[in-house]
Amino acid sequence: MSTKRVLSGMQASGRLHLGNLLGALANWTRLQQEYDCYYFIADWHALSSSYQDTHEIQTFVQEIAIDWLCAGIDPDKATLFIQSRVPEHAELHLLLSMITPVPWLERNPTYKEKQQELAGRDLSTYGFLGYPVLQAADIVIYKAHFVPVGIDQLPHLELAREIVRRFNHLYGREVFVEPEALLSEAPKVPGTDGRKMSKSYDNCIYLSDDRETVRQKVRTMVTDPARVRREDPGDPEVCPVFDIHKILTPEAEREECAEGCRTAAIGCLDCKGVLLPHLEQTMEPFFEKRSELASRPKDALEVIEEGSKRARLVAKATMEEVREAMGM
Ligand code: TRP
Ligand code: SF4
Repeated sequence: MSTKRVLSGMQASGRLHLGNLLGALANWTRLQQEYDCYYFIADWHALSSSYQDTHEIQTFVQEIAIDWLCAGIDPDKATLFIQSRVPEHAELHLLLSMITPVPWLERNPTYKEKQQELAGRDLSTYGFLGYPVLQAADIVIYKAHFVPVGIDQLPHLELAREIVRRFNHLYGREVFVEPEALLSEAPKVPGTDGRKMSKSYDNCIYLSDDRETVRQKVRTMVTDPARVRREDPGDPEVCPVFDIHKILTPEAEREECAEGCRTAAIGCLDCKGVLLPHLEQTMEPFFEKRSELASRPKDALEVIEEGSKRARLVAKATMEEVREAMGM
């Protein structure tokens, strides 16, 4: 096994959906075969935008843990943990905040975008501005070499690298490793309304949806808007259903659908009928295992509590070095 370490996290701010599965989780399960992987649920980060209403965070932590297990994230291969169970993240966040210039945070594009996206909430807080400093602490406390993330997280990664350089320079030793982003070729996963699948658009196929709900959502999913009647030819390239075909349906079968669409030989329901078995196959582990795991949520939680203990040993060791380097 390679000793290179991979770390990534998910904020506990909602249930996971098909986009999370095809984007992040599929990649994580591959990486756990090859690297020393640390995957964690960022419950403190969830506070940065949900501090006014915290009651769902614990539920999301539990649901995410269950989804990870169903997705094949393996606690024997990867270390799975909860951020708040490793309080050393908070200590390191404090120390890093001392050396992080505020303008570095203010010019972070993700910061501005998120603030606009969640315009209904008051995000003029210290914690929200410092979000990427906490994220940097999450990463560097494990000396992770690689961080699998989407493009939207690149500014945060760059900031983590800058903080590492500043720390190592200020205190004269290479305590931290500069983390590198591992950009997964994230497939475009549209939601049922054709926009990007996102819980804020209410257009998600959730990993916790049952088979019938998934069928219903596919049946009513938006298609090529110009294809109004069955006799109208359509254009697969502008159809959100076809975007999902591109991820899940084998090419020959998919090309048949595309051809049938362009010539109006098939209707959208036929086309969705071809997609559905592939989608169901992808979600089968969830249909099969999820209700069982959800009926004893303590077991899933126990798995990540165990992982948290292991993670904490690593975090503690790094903090020894950090205090030493800073002369604290
Ligand atoms: N900011 C990440 C997101 O919203 C979640 C996250 C928190 C994270 N800490 C991290 C991701 C550390 C990678 C590494 O998706
Ligand atoms: Fe989309 Fe398929 Fe309908 Fe064409 S036939 S518009 S690809 S759902």
